[in-house]
Amino acid sequence: MSQLRLCSSDELEVGSVRRFEVGDQAVALVRCGDGFHAVIDNCSHEDYPLSEGEVEPELCEIECLRHGSTFSLVDGEPQSLPATQPVKVFTVVLKDGDVFVEVP
Ligand code: FES
Repeated sequence: MSQLRLCSSDELEVGSVRRFEVGDQAVALVRCGDGFHAVIDNCSHEDYPLSEGEVEPELCEIECLRHGSTFSLVDGEPQSLPATQPVKVFTVVLKDGDVFVEVP
């Protein structure tokens, strides 16, 4: 497992999302009220980037703009249809004001 730096923690406001290319995958980094979360930037329903969606910082969820499924940013589980499968969640590490994700 290695840690890759995405950005500094003050680059993302609460309630915002940003896409990062991490190796051969895209990661959506989201800042909620409780901190940073990272999920694969691809809806589990169809091929669509979650980073285009709306963040619910109080619920710690993101809504896919394409068909409206919402996903928990804590465990990746869908909270509403049509998606039924979770999205992959990455461990986020904060170090010296920078945001890292753990990747295999
Ligand atoms: S592509 Fe995301 S809900 Fe359909």
